[in-house]
Amino acid sequence: MSEAVTPTTTTTPTVFDPTAEAAEKALCFRGIWAWLVLILLIGLAVFAVMWLLRKFIQGPVYRKKNRIDGKVVIVTGCNTGIGKETVLELARRGAKIYMACRDPARCEAARIEIIDRTQNQQLFNRSLDLGSLESVRNFVARFKAEETRLDLLVNNAGIMACPRSLTADGYEQQFGVNHLGHFLLTNLLLDRLKQASPSRIVVVSSAAHLFGRINREDLMSERKYGKFFGAYSQSKLANILFTLKLSKLLQGSGVTVNCCHPGVVRTELNRHFVAPGWVKSCIQTLALYFMKSPQAGAQTSLRLALDPSLEGSSGDYYSDSMRFPLVPWARNMETADWLWRESEKLVGLPPIEPQNGGVQQNGNVTGNGTRPVAGGAGGGGGGESIETVVVDRTSS
Ligand SMILES: NC(=O)c1ccc[n+]([C@@H]2O[C@H](COP(=O)([O-])OP(=O)(O)OC[C@H]3O[C@@H](n4cnc5c(N)ncnc54)[C@H](OP(=O)(O)O)[C@@H]3O)[C@@H](O)[C@H]2O)c1
Repeated sequence: MSEAVTPTTTTTPTVFDPTAEAAEKALCFRGIWAWLVLILLIGLAVFAVMWLLRKFIQGPVYRKKNRIDGKVVIVTGCNTGIGKETVLELARRGAKIYMACRDPARCEAARIEIIDRTQNQQLFNRSLDLGSLESVRNFVARFKAEETRLDLLVNNAGIMACPRSLTADGYEQQFGVNHLGHFLLTNLLLDRLKQASPSRIVVVSSAAHLFGRINREDLMSERKYGKFFGAYSQSKLANILFTLKLSKLLQGSGVTVNCCHPGVVRTELNRHFVAPGWVKSCIQTLALYFMKSPQAGAQTSLRLALDPSLEGSSGDYYSDSMRFPLVPWARNMETADWLWRESEKLVGLPPIEPQNGGVQQNGNVTGNGTRPVAGGAGGGGGGESIETVVVDRTSS
């Protein structure tokens, strides 16, 4: 006879254990703190990364303390943005600065503010509209009547992505202001720069040159106009080719010329940007973090203008205060030569280099119909002659 075995189940009676409950509570307590600490650490890590990223975006600061007391300086387009910050720092270091602006009232406001902040009284408000060759020549005539030397020229002024319009002389606005106006200005000031040798020229270009091509068939964008990728980028590429060509022409003169990209900077440069109000507000808010301040944007120009270690170095392109190699189309000397010759014709300067049957267009020329550029101080590259030459554009 077999007996059925019934399985026996043992149930533990729930016994109240005060120590276990305390341990559980303590664990839970530790859990909350653990979470809080974790959140705090993540917060700190995010903050540190954002701080580092912001520092990276702002770029290096020019920290050398060298002064330039009494040095004569011209900065174009300096009533606002990068130019204003450049003047502010140069004024702190004792320079005598000619502020070359197109709006005298805005220039005066900036000048007074900078005098207040630096106590440097040697700041002068001068009218210069780079969109008018006559204005450029008038500016130079007045400057030359006041100064016999020029230690530093900062070609900073610029416009970006405006609707197609023409300068007073009938040239496409961005090419005319960003390149041609500065081309004439620099050429007319070369004698004063050589007089002050060693002296410097700083050209503020842009990384936008990477998108640019010199359109030989349509330099003035008459057939096709692209606001940013077309005309602006072309004008900024022209700034670089101008720098390369000029540095070659100035070899041995003691005058150096370098160009730079200032970074992506929170300034008024995007004033022609068209978008709904809310899009602009969003961009402005993001720009507070993701773009350089104007002060940070001025640092590369300042290094090129001030750094004693760059004495004698010429024809280079800088970004974030570092020298950068140029893409092939930005160091094409054949294009640079062509652009130089074309620009001479457009602004009405005689050719600087001998050409086949070089034409003599004004009194400021050598025996072979060219202007001397390199050579010792006072070589008279720009000369005193400021009469406007009418150029027949159809024949060029
Ligand atoms: N901001 C950036 O992210 C950035 C990036 C790359 C390169 N850049 C270059 O940096 C330079 C300075 O630009 P920014 O950002 O400081 O711009 P901004 O705040 O707009 O300042 C431009 C300056 O140029 C002046 N200007 C414009 N047209 C002129 C003319 N026809 N004659 C004389 N002056 C004229 C302006 O005068 P008004 O105030 O009277 O118009 C202003 O003082 C420009 O060459 C620009 O191409 C800027």
